[in-house]
Amino acid sequence: MNSSKLIDGKAVAARVLAQVKNDVQALKRDGIEPALAVILVGQDPASQVYVRNKILRAEEAGIRSLEYRLSADTTQAQLLKLIAELNDDDSVNGILLQLPLPAQIEETRALQAIAPGKDVDGFHSENVGGLSQGRNVLTPCTPTGCMQLLEDTCGDLSGKHAVVIGRSNIVGKPMAALLLKAHCSVTVVHSRSVDAQALCRQADIVVAAVGRPRMIDARWLKPGAVVIDVGINRIEEDGRSRLVGDVDFDSALPHVSAITPVPGGVGPMTIAFLMKNTLIAAVQQAHAQAQPASSEAPCLSIS
Ligand code: GUN
Repeated sequence: MNSSKLIDGKAVAARVLAQVKNDVQALKRDGIEPALAVILVGQDPASQVYVRNKILRAEEAGIRSLEYRLSADTTQAQLLKLIAELNDDDSVNGILLQLPLPAQIEETRALQAIAPGKDVDGFHSENVGGLSQGRNVLTPCTPTGCMQLLEDTCGDLSGKHAVVIGRSNIVGKPMAALLLKAHCSVTVVHSRSVDAQALCRQADIVVAAVGRPRMIDARWLKPGAVVIDVGINRIEEDGRSRLVGDVDFDSALPHVSAITPVPGGVGPMTIAFLMKNTLIAAVQQAHAQAQPASSEAPCLSIS
């Protein structure tokens, strides 16, 4: 395998987390202790693993974590009440509501209830709108992590043609907005696109976020493309269970100039940027409390 083509998400995430830890220590010296509240409703096994990892990483970064595990039959009113309490609690800087939610809870209603300044997932419409206007708001963690990997790999992204495969609210749409903000020409392909493969073959940058194992092979890729694989799909193969991406890695590798592996590519970036968003939220809230009438950037700098 040509390892020089591999984009090492684990190493980049470790670097981001080390910087966050450093910045958290500096904040603590100023009497500010960043805190993240994580809410899990129900017992979805994958969500339980994600939430456990988020809490662990927070502790490692020196961020105080508050864990709320609610039963699967929690009502919407009960969840909204908890969110309102966390919004009002000045000692809580970030609120993460793990998705998916049980059927009795309206996802949009619950996400809209989180105060935009504490919305470390960047899912509130005020943050979504702010991103589409190119403002400096809290942005979704996975696409923000993908941008870090792309900027580390390619440098300036200006003028590049990026194709995003998938249009979910969590990855595809914010990914397209972030690439546009970085001055790329952006195409979003999805299930209704006519000849998605031909569109994708024009891309300098491909971001695959469809949730279909190994859908994207060499036929989809222009020689020398940079490929970011957001997919994490569990499949049974040769009698064992394994994780694969949306990209057929072995087929793609000879054609690309760089590619993220699965696992070890995009995966670790999501949590790293959740921690970074919590730090940013803490700094912005401290700034707002110190200077309530000012709209200037926070005085504490974040790398
Ligand atoms: N479920 C799957 N991905 C995510 C994410 O990025 N944030 C939240 N809150 N839930 C998720």
